[in-house]
Amino acid sequence: MNIIKDYSPPENLLRDRVILVTGSGQGLGRAAAIAYARHGATVILHGRKVEKLEKVYDEIEALDKAQPVIYPLDLEKATDEDCSGLAAAIAEQLGRLDGILHNAAFLDGPCPLELQTMNQWQTLLKINLIAPFSITRACLPLLKSAPDASIIMTASTQGHNPTAYWGGFSVAKAGVEALVRIQADEWGKLPNLRINALIPGIVNTPQRAKTHPGEVKKTLPQPEDLMPNYLFLMGPDSKEIKGEIIACQTIH
Ligand SMILES: NC(=O)c1ccc[n+]([C@@H]2O[C@H](COP(=O)([O-])OP(=O)(O)OC[C@H]3O[C@@H](n4cnc5c(N)ncnc54)[C@H](OP(=O)(O)O)[C@@H]3O)[C@@H](O)[C@H]2O)c1
Repeated sequence: MNIIKDYSPPENLLRDRVILVTGSGQGLGRAAAIAYARHGATVILHGRKVEKLEKVYDEIEALDKAQPVIYPLDLEKATDEDCSGLAAAIAEQLGRLDGILHNAAFLDGPCPLELQTMNQWQTLLKINLIAPFSITRACLPLLKSAPDASIIMTASTQGHNPTAYWGGFSVAKAGVEALVRIQADEWGKLPNLRINALIPGIVNTPQRAKTHPGEVKKTLPQPEDLMPNYLFLMGPDSKEIKGEIIACQTIH
């Protein structure tokens, strides 16, 4: 499924909503956190490195919108208890949660399966699949009591159409698509809770620079170019869309 590229969200699209954005210190997560804040949301800035989150915090503060909150947590080391702690802190400090953008991701350089180790796979699966699952589960009571909650998982072309050398990362991202379908099916017709996946496609971010160092960056789509998709899926205009895997750009 592809969604409308020329979606023009109203300025107050996310007013009064509280949205958690994982991996919001750089790349697509940073752009989404700023876009959500610009459209009225109180954003919880999650990531690993506090300095990066503080920079995004300052950028949002300069917009003169709702004050964001910083919540660092290393998803590689996170336990179910840590995820419950995150949910408890949101409940205590903000009192509600209307959406999660699961965006944080980790990717090693591509290499053949025969060179990949169990430890590497554990890290890839933990950060890209297992931790998001646990965060969603921990936040479920808050999400269920929100009037219109949207969860966006970030999938990938490499999970949708796996090819050589992407190994554990592809498997984790393929798992993200399965997770979205299972979760949407379990939630059935719950009117106020939806989960979907976005496949960004090629975007100029630090992750892309790591995997494709020779590319001319300025010719690539920028994170901000994709924000209509991220806003549409987080806001009320997509309320009827559930369990979909949505490509922001044509999948090659
Ligand atoms: N860029 C593309 O072309 C592209 C294409 C398809 C899909 N995607 C997907 O889009 C999403 C964003 O990609 P991106 O390119 O913007 O990625 P990115 O620049 O590498 O940023 C990833 C973010 O994830 C966070 N993160 C990584 N490991 C973490 C950990 N252990 N604990 C907590 N946070 C962690 C990083 O935080 P720190 O910096 O603090 O470590 C960073 O903010 C990912 O899910 C990616 O797979 C991207």
